[in-house]
Amino acid sequence: MSRSVSILGATGSVGRQTLDVIAQHASKFQIVALTAGSNVDMLIQQARAFKPKFVAIADEAAYPRLKEALADMPAIAVAGGAKAVVEAACLDTDITVAAIVGVAGLVPVMEAIKRGKTVAFANKETLVAAGNIMMDAVAKYGTTLLPIDSEHNAIFQVLHGHDLKGLRRIVLTASGGPFREWSTERMKKATPEQAVAHPTWSMGQKISVDSATLMNKALEVIEAHHLFALPSAKIDVVIHPQSVVHGMAEYADGSFLAQMGPADMRTPITVCLGWPERIDTSGARMDVMALSKLEFSAPDTVRFPALRLVRQVLADAGLASAILFNTANEVAVAAFLKRTIGFCDILDNIERMLNDSHKPAISTLEDILNFDAQIRETMSETIKNAA
Ligand SMILES: NC(=O)c1ccc[n+]([C@@H]2O[C@H](COP(=O)([O-])OP(=O)(O)OC[C@H]3O[C@@H](n4cnc5c(N)ncnc54)[C@H](OP(=O)(O)O)[C@@H]3O)[C@@H](O)[C@H]2O)c1
Repeated sequence: MSRSVSILGATGSVGRQTLDVIAQHASKFQIVALTAGSNVDMLIQQARAFKPKFVAIADEAAYPRLKEALADMPAIAVAGGAKAVVEAACLDTDITVAAIVGVAGLVPVMEAIKRGKTVAFANKETLVAAGNIMMDAVAKYGTTLLPIDSEHNAIFQVLHGHDLKGLRRIVLTASGGPFREWSTERMKKATPEQAVAHPTWSMGQKISVDSATLMNKALEVIEAHHLFALPSAKIDVVIHPQSVVHGMAEYADGSFLAQMGPADMRTPITVCLGWPERIDTSGARMDVMALSKLEFSAPDTVRFPALRLVRQVLADAGLASAILFNTANEVAVAAFLKRTIGFCDILDNIERMLNDSHKPAISTLEDILNFDAQIRETMSETIKNAA
């Protein structure tokens, strides 16, 4: 096996773990492009270690430093700005890893899809926002979309090779996050430090807060709806604090197929990089003998309203509600991390936006980007006025 790989969002949690797996298989993978948002020091370090053909940093102010630091490596082309990240996504590769956080990754991921190769997909917010527009492009260009998200990677594995006419439902597991047993009163006073301290997974800041609100699971329900073409009623969520079982499929004959593994993103990343071959992971291995107790329970949609609201979003025709849900969350999480709003205000603000906003018809990428920009402005204004 010899595969070329580009990583969009190389400096983040998923990006770094992808490079960790690749470092273990130096003869199997060559890096074509690496991109970052603003973490120029880490991007320089990665470029020196993996010698890609192209590196791009979205933050234009960081570009001169990147260029200067790599001046002694003329084989590496260097560029800056959002367009440079899109340029990286357009380069020819066998696999593009989509690991940017948020809707910021939408244009690059759509360009990667248009090349018709394999996209190893982590950047769930883009699929939530683009839904059928993204899946239509996947079908049109014959792209292989392999889910990195551990739950979707699990579902992908338990559906693969089966007759899906006999599929009753899929079940996504959720750890329940750091506030699984907290009262609403206590959650109102939760700090960003407490929210990002995830009990089982080590992840970037935004997805860690999303895991604490269970918004991550809500976004994953929408992600699963598009990836596996399933209606809301066939996608269930259970709380499973040990994060050992990542996803299950129930078939008509009563069989439940479950995928288990360590709570280590390097397993699903390795599945995607090697697929359909099974190659060694650089991550943790699971000790079956240590699995003394696996617990499963229903989620509490009163303390965690994201899982109630997502059903409303999926019941609405069109993409506008999903874009609202996702973008309002991005703005609210950023405000929470800056301590402008409290933890429970995140979902309160999202619900208000969802109920009060006009929902335009969305049929193009441009419509999504325009609506996203409009929501950011309204939501930021609302938060500023309330502060
Ligand atoms: N972390 C996990 O375990 C995990 C699991 C499942 C799914 N996911 C999904 O994977 C995605 C990445 O998550 P993460 O935890 O790896 O996030 P993260 O650690 O915050 O990393 C995000 C990456 O995106 C880059 N970035 C940020 N803003 C950008 C912009 N405007 N333009 C271009 N690049 C930008 C960051 O660059 P800088 O470093 O320069 O800021 C970084 O490389 C998210 O959609 C998340 O939901 C993550």
